[in-house]
Amino acid sequence: MHFERMAAEYAGARPPYPGVVFDTLETAGVIGDGRRVLEIGAGAGLATEELVRRGSEVTALEPGPRLAALIRDAVPAVRDVLPVRLEDAHLDAGGFDSVVAATSLHWVDLSVGLPVIHGALRPHGWLAVWRTVFGDDDVRTPFRDRVHEIVSRRDQRDEPAGELRPTVDELAAGGWFEPVRTEHWRWSIDLSARQVGRLFATFSNWTPAEAAAAEQAADDLGGRVTEHYRSLLHLLRRTPRG
Ligand SMILES: C[S@@+](CC[C@H](N)C(=O)[O-])C[C@H]1O[C@@H](n2cnc3c(N)ncnc32)[C@H](O)[C@@H]1O
Repeated sequence: MHFERMAAEYAGARPPYPGVVFDTLETAGVIGDGRRVLEIGAGAGLATEELVRRGSEVTALEPGPRLAALIRDAVPAVRDVLPVRLEDAHLDAGGFDSVVAATSLHWVDLSVGLPVIHGALRPHGWLAVWRTVFGDDDVRTPFRDRVHEIVSRRDQRDEPAGELRPTVDELAAGGWFEPVRTEHWRWSIDLSARQVGRLFATFSNWTPAEAAAAEQAADDLGGRVTEHYRSLLHLLRRTPRG
């Protein structure tokens, strides 16, 4: 799959999640000292490192074998790495205080995955799902105009299903989880042209030629661009169902 092919590049190319995401999780008691946390789709360990740094005992689930190996190297304090898809995982019943997923749950078949998460959580355990949306449609910049130009040259091929998936309704479907709150943050980051090329190459719907065109656009605009991103967090609690 895309992420597995991009394993080495992925590790250094994606910007970290804003600290406020982890502060919010820690304040709510989702992560932190002694919390048993299952992280779904941990990738190269971008979020894993921060979860561990804040004292959580993290089991990382990552189906890509190269990525799973990267996590072990990047975050030696991770408790365990399970190289399976969530849908295929056999997890101890009630073994976790929290399940978290950073920009990964939209890849999971939730009709299978939500009952698996429910079974792995203790009563009233937390489900925290967050992701970064790379690009804020409310903020127009010369670089974003160039990005739109690149994307508009595509044939009528479909974008991967909805950027903001999974929605809170999808997460609450089936009655396994009850929504508690949703948070939304806007932030920005300065990227060099090279960082643009490396980051865009990690997007599963971007071809290498398109990523190179984005890098060229940033180069044309002076070699550095400010990008405006959004991070969205859904917090839910396990219901007694099942
Ligand atoms: C966009 S990456 C996010 C990685 C990491 N959480 C991060 O924030 O950088 C999505 C990850 O989900 C993993 N993934 C895809 N399908 C999955 C599934 N069915 N179960 C668990 N993880 C999955 C991929 O292997 C990939 O590492």
